[in-house]
Amino acid sequence: MNILGIETSCDETAAAVVKEGTTLASSIVASQIEVHHRYGGVVPELASRKHIEAIIPVVDESLNRADLSLKDIDAIAVTRGPGLVGALLVGFAFAKACAYALKIPWVGVNHLEGHINSVFLEPNPPTFPFVALLVSGGHTGIYHVTSHTTVELMGQTRDDAAGEAFDKVAKMLELGYPGGSVIDRISRAGDPGRIKFPRTYLDKSEFDFSFSGIKTAVNRYIMTHKDRIEDQTPDIAAGFQEAIMDVLCYKAIHAAMVKGCNRIALVGGVAANSRLREKLRSDARHQGIRVHIPSLHLCGDNAAMIASVGYHYLNAGIVSGLQDDVFSKTR
Ligand code: KG4
Ligand code: ZN
Repeated sequence: MNILGIETSCDETAAAVVKEGTTLASSIVASQIEVHHRYGGVVPELASRKHIEAIIPVVDESLNRADLSLKDIDAIAVTRGPGLVGALLVGFAFAKACAYALKIPWVGVNHLEGHINSVFLEPNPPTFPFVALLVSGGHTGIYHVTSHTTVELMGQTRDDAAGEAFDKVAKMLELGYPGGSVIDRISRAGDPGRIKFPRTYLDKSEFDFSFSGIKTAVNRYIMTHKDRIEDQTPDIAAGFQEAIMDVLCYKAIHAAMVKGCNRIALVGGVAANSRLREKLRSDARHQGIRVHIPSLHLCGDNAAMIASVGYHYLNAGIVSGLQDDVFSKTR
């Protein structure tokens, strides 16, 4: 079964063709970073307009790369939510119209389930059940995953998402938007132990997160060391990153132990972070837990993960209809 995946929940217009739920035939991601960069964040209205301009060329490109045409597509999977409503609507309406015209089934899927399923596009995927640590710009949560489409939320952030904290700290350090990858790079030149930022564990036996305290602590440090701040940027970045990673790794491993799982999937945009990839693997190894992390191109938003999860819904006979609509927040 050839599934065309479509993703427009935030600032990436993406289309992909996935065969039998796991084989990637093509994956195209058109980023809007250039558009939003100067505003220091995503401007929803601009995102919607850019999706409208990009959707047809991006879908065409994904078909060309897969060496297929629309008549070879058996079904369409599209992100239904959570995300920016105006942005989601572009992909959702496109998928609806396209499937109607082609007389093929289509299904709207949850973006977060998409991220979790991104590990199945790699060789040697995890076996069920496993724990997923999902860290992105919009979400940070821990899930107990018992099938491709059955995910139980164990805990999530009470304020900022981890990626959001990276982006905000990058802004304070004047490193540009989005700042996660810049902090990752700069941290390699810094000493993570020189400036100690607080680790917020909340209740250590539970799985909720809070990242607003560390953001405030970094801001306070910058304000009180203004005169020498540039020399200290790598140490601040490394100290901040290490504090976030300590909490993420502790909670993910603790969740796996509580659920008796010996596998963790690390997914979402922040899963691209080199320190997190290394630390989670090594901390988990000490507990006999294996960590699955997708390749970099599958960590950030993409449509291959949407096609992958859509395959399992379609296989179970679950399809969407013309009356269905997008949703902004997870219900
Ligand atoms: O999953 P994603 O592409 O979009 C959302 O669904 O939110 O995640 C984007 C987030 C941004 O906050 C970005 O700064 C962060 O992922 N990010 C990183 C790295 N690469 C991207 N954060 C830390 N280290 C990185 N290397
Ligand atoms: Zn995402």
